[in-house]
Amino acid sequence: MGESKKQVGVLGLGRMGTALAGALLGAGHDVVVWNRSPLKAGPLLDRGARLAATPAELASADFVVSCLSTYDSQRPVLAACAPKVLVNLTSGTPAQARETAAWASSAGVEYVDGVIMAVPQGIGTAQARILYGGSSSAFDAWRDVLAVLGEPVFLGEDTGLPALYDLALLGIMWSTMAGYLHALALVGTEGVTPETFTPMALAWLSSVGGFLSGIGAQVASGDYRTDVSALDINAAGLALLEETSREQGIGFSVPAAVRELFDGAVAKGHGSHAIASVIEEIR
Ligand SMILES: NC(=O)c1ccc[n+]([C@@H]2O[C@H](COP(=O)([O-])OP(=O)(O)OC[C@H]3O[C@@H](n4cnc5c(N)ncnc54)[C@H](OP(=O)(O)O)[C@@H]3O)[C@@H](O)[C@H]2O)c1
Repeated sequence: MGESKKQVGVLGLGRMGTALAGALLGAGHDVVVWNRSPLKAGPLLDRGARLAATPAELASADFVVSCLSTYDSQRPVLAACAPKVLVNLTSGTPAQARETAAWASSAGVEYVDGVIMAVPQGIGTAQARILYGGSSSAFDAWRDVLAVLGEPVFLGEDTGLPALYDLALLGIMWSTMAGYLHALALVGTEGVTPETFTPMALAWLSSVGGFLSGIGAQVASGDYRTDVSALDINAAGLALLEETSREQGIGFSVPAAVRELFDGAVAKGHGSHAIASVIEEIR
């Protein structure tokens, strides 16, 4: 199936939907698009896409990719389209994905849920990875076409799992960015610029990343013993960061949130254990 050109429908031409449709066109597929605001389709039409007047016109496509802002905005659009195979790339919760899978099943639609771990500019490049879950027969059949968008990773038949991975991975990104911005604000109180500080932050992040496998192994085993760095020392360090942030006149909600977690784990008796033991407080 991978060699022949298929008719692919794309519902939603926001920043991401436009990038998805563009990558499919670039691979030579016959692309039919629909968007609430049809004017956004202009550049894609210039490249050979066809504009559908209604979502229903996409129902005859070989398969349809949807990428709208939310599940709420998407629900009526999908109900009006009900394609043979749907690959839903709209972000949401695992429950929303499973609810859409249940609708798809009742409407006779083969359903694959997906989450895009990339920005629109990364679509179609080696930097893009898209995580999928749902119908393995549909995924296998369309894997080669989906590979045009980014590296496809199939997580299994559970349609809720991609959204769970998405939010877990984004959580790492958001907390890392919050930590970095707090650091920039802190060193900025003494005139240190982002340009000066960022190379140091990047080298440090690379060292910190090296700890993740060990932390994961401790979480998996439940053995939190350490001869490296105990939680109470780290909780004390966080208190110093919070105090210094106050003294330097900036906000301290980022370290305070982490300190609360660490203190909670210390109170549960994990003071001499490794940082991995904080998971007991989070759980
Ligand atoms: N941008 C990213 O970096 C990125 C990365 C990963 C995942 N995603 C996910 O991709 C999805 C789309 O993101 P985006 O960046 O493309 O957003 P966007 O640029 O804001 O586009 C939103 C799309 O949803 C449509 N839409 C919104 N409300 C609608 C409604 N009530 N009825 C019909 N269509 C409606 C918009 O149509 P109009 O053009 O008519 O407004 C547009 O096509 C989101 O779920 C997002 O989380 C985005």
